[in-house]
Amino acid sequence: MGIKSALDRMLVLEVVRVTEAAAISAARLVGRGDEKQADQAAVDAMRTQLNNLDIDGVIVIGEGERDEAPMLYIGEKVGRGGPKVDIALDPLEGTTIAAKAMQNSLAVIAIGDDGTMLRAPDVYMDKIAIGGGYEAGLVDLDRKPAENLKALAKAKGVPVEELTACILDRPRHAELIREVREAGARIHLIGDGDIAGVIATTDPNTGIDIYMGSGGAPEGVLAAAALRSIGGQIQGRLLFKSDDEKARAAKWGVTDLNRKYNLEDMVSGDVIFAATGVTDGSMLEGVRLVPGGCTTETIVMRSWSQTIRTIKTHHRGKR
Ligand code: FBP
Repeated sequence: MGIKSALDRMLVLEVVRVTEAAAISAARLVGRGDEKQADQAAVDAMRTQLNNLDIDGVIVIGEGERDEAPMLYIGEKVGRGGPKVDIALDPLEGTTIAAKAMQNSLAVIAIGDDGTMLRAPDVYMDKIAIGGGYEAGLVDLDRKPAENLKALAKAKGVPVEELTACILDRPRHAELIREVREAGARIHLIGDGDIAGVIATTDPNTGIDIYMGSGGAPEGVLAAAALRSIGGQIQGRLLFKSDDEKARAAKWGVTDLNRKYNLEDMVSGDVIFAATGVTDGSMLEGVRLVPGGCTTETIVMRSWSQTIRTIKTHHRGKR
């Protein structure tokens, strides 16, 4: 039995506790300059909460392989028993952001039916994403940035000069940045956190129209899970720097190393997506200390109903 038929609405609210707990634990270490400790705090809290859920879960996107990550490693089983589900997670997306108390670090999870999520190895993925409401294939990873921007501008009925692309600020993006600027669009450079970067394309209030460039492949799958509910398009292609990375991919069943993944190839079934803000960001408020406790803000979505909830929680006695 899958998540849709078995747990459906209950699990959606249970999942909120999972990301809330991770965010609260990580928040204690925000701004303290220690990425590893902040990540570890989020991992510990998320794992404890996951093991309280009535699911038979397997981590398909996690903290790494078993030999490098003792907790929430790929292949780890979590939950007390129930429907078989795939779990993609990032207990602290934006470890550097959190350590520096900057914008947009999140605790993130996606839960889908067994076998529905791409087992993405921890390599880079070239990505392109736009929000919902456009014809399928409006933008394409294999087209030049200028062509994609032109197509998007035409669909929006605005000149390219009015578009803003979100790109990770990395030396490897120098050529992409040059091409986007030459095409006339603005660029919103981000230091980290491309899950939030992709999701920002779905919200007109962010001013971000398109996400471009390479980031982590696991983050690509998590962003795809979010777009399944909010709407939007994403394409990704794995990028390999070494034979070792290719061997890792083969281990997760990737046979075509050059494959272009559409949203449905990354997340092929119904999915629940939840994210809690650790620090303030474009989508969510971060954890706030208030007298006697703290508050969290979480977005949680179900793809089959397309319901999107933002849940503000006051946690008494926790901070
Ligand atoms: P971490 O949470 O693992 O620090 O990832 C942050 C992040 O910015 C992701 O959002 C992004 O996909 C990836 O790092 C980009 O990798 P790199 O920093 O190597 O360019």
